[in-house]
Amino acid sequence: MNDELVRLVDKLAAEHSLSVDEYEALVTGYSPDLAAELAARAVTVRQSIYGRDVFVRGLIEISNFCRNNCLYCGIRRGNKNVDRYRLTEDEIFECADEGYSLGFRTFVLQGGEDAYFTDEVMCRIVAGIKSRHPDCAVTLSLGERSRDSYRRMREAGADRYLLRHETADGAHYARLHPAEMSYENRIGCLYTLRELGYQVGCGFMVGSPYQTAKNLAADLKFIESFKPEMCGIGPFIPHHDTPFRDFSPGTLEMTCYLLSIIRLIIPPVLLPATTALGTIDPRGRERGILAGANVVMPNLSPTSVRKKYELYDNKICTGEESAQCRGCLDARMESIGYKIVVDRGDAAGFKK
Ligand code: 5AD
Ligand code: FES
Repeated sequence: MNDELVRLVDKLAAEHSLSVDEYEALVTGYSPDLAAELAARAVTVRQSIYGRDVFVRGLIEISNFCRNNCLYCGIRRGNKNVDRYRLTEDEIFECADEGYSLGFRTFVLQGGEDAYFTDEVMCRIVAGIKSRHPDCAVTLSLGERSRDSYRRMREAGADRYLLRHETADGAHYARLHPAEMSYENRIGCLYTLRELGYQVGCGFMVGSPYQTAKNLAADLKFIESFKPEMCGIGPFIPHHDTPFRDFSPGTLEMTCYLLSIIRLIIPPVLLPATTALGTIDPRGRERGILAGANVVMPNLSPTSVRKKYELYDNKICTGEESAQCRGCLDARMESIGYKIVVDRGDAAGFKK
């Protein structure tokens, strides 16, 4: 390992901050040895805050209708081969009830940007889940909405919001999205959510088309300055019905390396080992935890719709029942000496 890179790792661990150029040097300087060193430090930091506990979130995919046309995404509106569905309010409540008995204390309602889910409908759903399960957190992941909409859903009881920034470089953002979408609006949404009192998650894909080390450095700097409570990163995986079908996927190694770096930037951050990571490698989620992640997000959607919420090819767990995924993840975490806990799993003592 070269001395300069070791110096950067020391500095990152001590100061939780590097310059953009230093982040770039760290990304470019990837080696298996350096990755092992970063993972060891990330695991120590994570352990000092969360021990060997892993938080679990029940993901309910409420709709695959989407008004957007992101070039990477399998449910983009331009994909005419998607069998579109939306869950009814009762189906959503049933998923949450089942999840509750399986030990979930956070529900993530995720969907495409579907006009059917107006503020009125969403507020009813959020309030309904909160009144049935007052000890649970509700996380929303519904894309870009107005400040007023975010405010109303927050007032209805939503605790957290996930909105990946996708890339912190405006020019790169423009290559991943159609012209009608704007980087400024996306980042603006994140700050609005923060102001409204949500715990906020941002994030990006690793190895997305045209991504450079400079782009990743900008992502890391953005994360350092925004200080999200949560950060979702996973490998880009091509979907056969998108313009990006012929690009190669991101790697397990780079995703784990970046997970370790993000853990060192924000020690208490909630960091999922994502389904995409489990899709590119059969032990990807375990590897993510061993690199510093501390959250897993199994699917609670009805089995009948799982295959339809396909953002990328070969997504795992589309045939399994919720209880099976829960059991499977318990066993997977246990196999590496970790334990899924029944807990809302809020971020520990956040300093802003
Ligand atoms: N590969 C990996 N992740 C993807 N996402 C969307 N499409 C893909 C893909 N092809 C991610 C985006 C989005 C999140 C819900 O899923 O980052 O924000
Ligand atoms: Fe779904 Fe393993 S987590 S089958």
